[in-house]
Order: sequence, then C-alpha cells, then structure tokens
Amino acid sequence: MTVAEIRRIGVVGLGAMGAGIAQLAVEAGYETVGRDVTDELGHEARDRIAHFLQRKVDKEQLAGDAREHALGLLALTTDLADLADCDLVIEAIVEDLPAKLALFSELEGIVRADSILATNTSALSVTEIAAAVQSPARVVGMHFFNPAPLMPLLEIVRAELSSDEAVEAAYTVGERMGKRPIRCHDTPGFVVNRVLIPLLNDCLRVLDEARVSPEALDTAMTAGAGWPMGPCALVDLVGIDVHVHASEALYEKLREPRMAPPPRIVAMKNAGLLGRKSGRGFYRYD
Ligand SMILES: NC(=O)c1ccc[n+]([C@@H]2O[C@H](COP(=O)([O-])OP(=O)(O)OC[C@H]3O[C@@H](n4cnc5c(N)ncnc54)[C@H](O)[C@@H]3O)[C@@H](O)[C@H]2O)c1
Repeated sequence: MTVAEIRRIGVVGLGAMGAGIAQLAVEAGYETVGRDVTDELGHEARDRIAHFLQRKVDKEQLAGDAREHALGLLALTTDLADLADCDLVIEAIVEDLPAKLALFSELEGIVRADSILATNTSALSVTEIAAAVQSPARVVGMHFFNPAPLMPLLEIVRAELSSDEAVEAAYTVGERMGKRPIRCHDTPGFVVNRVLIPLLNDCLRVLDEARVSPEALDTAMTAGAGWPMGPCALVDLVGIDVHVHASEALYEKLREPRMAPPPRIVAMKNAGLLGRKSGRGFYRYD
C-alpha cells in the first residue's frame, strides 16, 4: 500500500542536486526534511536555497512572504531517523551503488511501510537500488536535471518491481513542483542521457576527425542544427568528469562503442580540465 497523499518529503544528500530538489519541494508547499552528513553541509545548502529564492524575489517571480514561508518549511538534520514521518524520501547522495544500497536499507527500517523511496541516480540501475529493500514496490527513480529548480524535465523511472501507485505518486509530486514529468522504464541512461551521451561523444570525435576547433563545432551545431548551446560549451557546463563518468557507465552496460568517452576528454579529465567548475575545459572561464 502506498500513502494516499504526499505531504512531507525527505531529501537525503543536499549537494548540487539535493539542494535544488529541496528548494522545489518547499516552493511547492511540502514540509521538507533535508539530511546531509554534517550540519555545515546542511546549512550551506539552506543558504544556497535562501539565495536562489531571494533572486526570484528580486526578479519579482516570488513574493517576499512566499520566500519566508518556503524557507520555514525546510528542516535540516544529520539524523536519518528524523525522516520517519516522510511520505516520500528522495535520495540524492553520491553516485555510488554500495552507498545507495546501504542508505535504502537503513531508510526502510525508519520510514512507514506505505512511504515511497525515490532515487535521483543518473547512471545506476533503479532496480538494483530497489533490491536493497524488502518492499521494492515502493522504489522509483525521480531523475531531475541540473540545475533542478530551472530544468523542466523530470524522468519518473519505473523499476522492475515498482508499483503503479508509487510511480503515479512520484509523477504527481513532479507536476506539483512545476516540472514536466515523463514516465519511462529503468534502462541505462533512461531517456535523455541514452540519447545525449553518445550524441555528445560523436560531436567530440568530430573535433579530431574533421579537425575543427571547439568554437567552430559549437557554431556548426548552434547555427546549423538549431541547438541552443554547442556541444563543447554543454560538456564544459555539465563537467568533463561528470560526462566521462556517465559515458563509462553507459558503455559498461550497453557495450556500444559510441557510448565510450573519446580519449581526448578522458585526457582532459585526467589533466584536471573539468570545464566551467575548474575554470578551463574546451573554453577558459576567468
Ligand atoms: N550533478 C548532476 O548533473 C546530476 C544530474 C542528475 C542526477 N544526478 C545524481 O544526483 C545524485 C547527487 O549528485 P550531486 O551532483 O548532487 O552530488 P554532490 O556531490 O553535489 O552531492 C552529494 C551530497 O550527498 C551527501 N551525502 C553523501 N552520502 C550521504 C548520506 N549517506 N546521507 C546524506 N548525505 C550524503 C554529500 O555530503 C553531498 O553533500 C547522484 O546520484 C547523481 O548521479 C546528478
């Protein structure tokens, strides 16, 4: 049995994705409990949320008292037991299967039998994560895109044993958060990454094959294919390390050569050229 209505949401891991998901949850009016491993990480996440909500107030997208109300809905903890009353828990910790399995197993012992457990994993199997619990019907994927408050898409991922109720409850939460959810099955890369990762890798191979510069390739794809952003600029934004990791994960599962990261970006990753976040990737960011 799945809870009839989601009122209270837990978010575990308040990094880049978790803080954005917690922001969406409080803006949608859900009581939200955010858990990270230290108080400091929790407070940093709340400061980032407060900052982004203030920017919305400054742009007249949000009323000042709505910001205060939203921030008042967010409670922070380092103790997983404080998520006991949550109807839905969204996991956004590090992309590491053993860590996620340990967390789901511990969470199952804490939350009610009718609560839903969701994972924001990008590249792991939701079905494999669900195998950590006694009641896998309650487990779904909720794959938000970065930055979660701004990117409209939300992939609601049905694992092998997910119940219809859990899938639909996650979908409804996504709609209330203002996202454009889609339902899909648990296959490597789900929908967007399954298409985008090999496509971006093809683009990066063309850099060497056609001997074009990153600027020229980005011009080709924006001016010739109507892309809103060129592939090199996009990979810099995503993070070279994140893209390499996602490519390797897809390649490992599907064994299609196009999924494998081109040697050129593996070398960039190894050299610490990670894109915007390191100040240098295909472009320089001073
Ligand atoms: N960054 C992206 O572009 C992106 C996009 C979609 C999905 N994801 C997925 O979201 C998840 C989180 O990614 P991220 O980029 O936010 O990572 P991140 O490193 O920014 O944040 C992870 C956070 O989880 C915390 N954490 C680790 N173990 C924990 C535990 N047991 N309990 C509570 N907190 C814990 C860390 O302290 C950190 O604050 C990953 O599964 C990733 O694949 C990432």
